[in-house]
Amino acid sequence: PREPVVLGIETSCDETGIGIVRGTTLLANAIASSMDEHARYGGVVPEIAARAHLEALAPTIHSALAEARLGWSDIDAIAVTCGPGLSGALMVGVAAAKGLALATGKPLYAVNHLVGHVGVDLVTPDSEPLEYPTIALLVSGGHTSLLLVRDLVSDVELLGETIDDAAGEAFDKVARVLGLPYPGGPHIDRVAVGGNPKAIRFPRGLSLPKDMAAHRYDFSFSGLKTAVARWVEARRDRGEEFSAADVAASFREAVADVLLTKALAACADLQVPRLLLGGGVVANARIRELAAERAAAAGVTLRIPPLELCTDNGAMIAALGAQLIMRGHAPSELGFGADSTLPV
Ligand code: KG4
Ligand code: ZN
Repeated sequence: PREPVVLGIETSCDETGIGIVRGTTLLANAIASSMDEHARYGGVVPEIAARAHLEALAPTIHSALAEARLGWSDIDAIAVTCGPGLSGALMVGVAAAKGLALATGKPLYAVNHLVGHVGVDLVTPDSEPLEYPTIALLVSGGHTSLLLVRDLVSDVELLGETIDDAAGEAFDKVARVLGLPYPGGPHIDRVAVGGNPKAIRFPRGLSLPKDMAAHRYDFSFSGLKTAVARWVEARRDRGEEFSAADVAASFREAVADVLLTKALAACADLQVPRLLLGGGVVANARIRELAAERAAAAGVTLRIPPLELCTDNGAMIAALGAQLIMRGHAPSELGFGADSTLPV
């Protein structure tokens, strides 16, 4: 049978993402971001994100169709993120998707954003097919989740997630403490170069033996964020010089350490020798380096999609939609809503 051409709509956070795939082939990945508008607030402002999606959706759909050299008549189906994410932002995408489905008569598939981060692997150019089961570690400004994926469309299990801040939020808040611009992740990476990652031993959240018993696969970054802020403020109060490079490197080390300790614990416990990374924080140089080191040492095959497919995008949503179609799933009834806390 002919492979379905699917247009995917992603609006769960600050990226308006429109992707088009044919089966597992990526045809277009158009993105508009409202990040610049959030910068002065030091974090994504939901209302601003929703309004930005409203403005960006139609132009971004046009860009994606142009990039794929396709017209509406070539699109077989539409897929849209219905959660988890920011409610208002999700609603704009879902409403647009339903409008398109109603107007064109094309089937619409509502899909899960987190599963999309895993599914994007399928449309990563030149990649070997994803093998199951796999552990997936998804780390962004909005989520920090560890998943056991036995089957992309029918069997994804949440092993653990952050109980407070997402890892990306911690990067953004620590950057702010150091007087670096938002979003802070890339700046922390830049400042950390030449710093000593062992200079300061910052806390590894939920890593003590008693925490590992109850929260083996969960994360916590708010204590780390506070510890860094206290450490810096104490020195500033005393008028003491300190090395921002050491703070950035030590903070980054703590995040990378705890993320990879837990991800590789899951691989070992569940005897799954495969780890997939996703989310914008995966851009972090130390996280990538430590992931490669520890995965190799543990005999785990590591997969990291190219960065433009790790950050939020529409291609991952289209990829999931195409899988649902190829596996014979019926389209979603148009009564579905947006669910900010949608489980996997
Ligand atoms: O996936 P993403 O683009 O958007 C959402 O969160 O939805 O991730 C953005 C997050 C921000 O918190 C940003 O600071 C972080 O990813 N980030 C990084 C790096 N680049 C971006 N964090 C650490 N190191 C980086 N190099
Ligand atoms: Zn995401």
